[in-house]
Amino acid sequence: MDNRISWIKISHHQVGSQSIVEFQNSIVNMNHKVAVFRKEHFNAAHRLHNPDWTEEKNQEVFGLCNNPHYHGHNYELIVKVTGEIDPATGYVMDMKVLSDLIRKEVLDRFDHKNLNLDTAAFANLNPTAENIVVVIYGLIREKLDPKLELQVRLYETERNFVEYPI
Ligand code: NI
Repeated sequence: MDNRISWIKISHHQVGSQSIVEFQNSIVNMNHKVAVFRKEHFNAAHRLHNPDWTEEKNQEVFGLCNNPHYHGHNYELIVKVTGEIDPATGYVMDMKVLSDLIRKEVLDRFDHKNLNLDTAAFANLNPTAENIVVVIYGLIREKLDPKLELQVRLYETERNFVEYPI
């Protein structure tokens, strides 16, 4: 039975005849999926450029982000992990483990780096926010328990952000 349906049944029909503790236990024992989030931050430089195009076309398409001397962004990263609460720990995932994973796989790789020049991931891949978020997703996904769902949101500016998968 769908968790939401069980919740509605319990809250409307059974809570009156149950003690509060029984009611709470019945909710906890339903294996609800919960999303946990970790916010991180890194600074990186990049240049958006398509080597197959002329300088004029690159300038026209990428504008300021085509600056040959690169420019920086303060990237904000939000990692969302969804799964069932482990009855032994009460956690979906230990946040220290998630934090360490993001630091090792993402921040150590990209923080204070020139994405085009200093990272293997973007040596031949245009470091747009779209491409960065897909790369970050892949790096975390590879190390995350397969039973957990993952979604990554990346802010390139306060107003421009991307999300993967959708
Ligand atoms: Ni830029």
